Amino acid sequence: MIAINQVNQLYGGTQILWDLNLNIEKGSCTCIMGRNGVGKTTLLKCLMGLLPVSNGEILLNGKALHKQSAESRALAGIGYVPQGRDIFPMLTVEENLRIGLPIRKQRLKMLGRENETHDIPEKIFELFPVLKEMMHRRGGDLSGGQQQQLAIGRALVIEPEVLILDEPNEGIQPNIVKQIGDVILKLNAEEGLTVILVEQKLGFARRVGREFRLMEKGRVVASDKMDNLSDELIRQYLAV
Ligand SMILES: Nc1ncnc2c1ncn2[C@@H]1O[C@H](COP(=O)(O)OP(=O)(O)O)[C@@H](O)[C@H]1O
Ligand SMILES: [Mg+2]
Repeated sequence: MIAINQVNQLYGGTQILWDLNLNIEKGSCTCIMGRNGVGKTTLLKCLMGLLPVSNGEILLNGKALHKQSAESRALAGIGYVPQGRDIFPMLTVEENLRIGLPIRKQRLKMLGRENETHDIPEKIFELFPVLKEMMHRRGGDLSGGQQQQLAIGRALVIEPEVLILDEPNEGIQPNIVKQIGDVILKLNAEEGLTVILVEQKLGFARRVGREFRLMEKGRVVASDKMDNLSDELIRQYLAV
């Protein structure tokens, strides 16, 4: 479904991604893992179109994405939850969620699902009831965990085909980490949503991910089913 072929990326003069190859199957739940600074966030930003790639290609269902804007990638069905959440603190929860509505409307049309609501879908409040309670509060007044739920809700408004999450559990209390894991599992298992998750916490990665990709120095160095993530690989690429 997603193919990233021989991608290189440079920040100014520094090369971050090196001939990176990555394949993601439709309906999979893949954990991208690796130590700090190996280029995980950079890779996701390249996938989302927030950073240009120097060369190489990024394909979604065989169609080239790498020259398209971030907005057209969202329109193509990529939902993105950035590291650090990045919600709008001065806007209310409702206003944050409404940001994706124009893209939602266009996607529903593309998908032939125009009969569905063009407003924020109720499903989001079923997944995250707290967002309904907090609807008129400002984003900045929410706890870190609630902001993360808002960021995920906002990504789901566009009816994505692929959901990308960059360290959704960073700095979040354990009960919300559990809830976020449950939501990811549910979306993947019940709705067939393809999930790409950057995760440092091994327990969470094992619970939620079905596949892993290990990165080191801007490359993918190991890919397999999560069940095959060995102690040797952990020692080599994850232990600090
Ligand atoms: N805006 C930036 N300008 C220059 N270098 C950056 C920038 N953002 C990240 N980097 C560098 O790129 C490398 C990869 O960073 P990043 O993709 O954030 O890694 P990860 O998400 O795996 O921790 C790091 O060495 C980091 O210092
Ligand atoms: Mg990162």
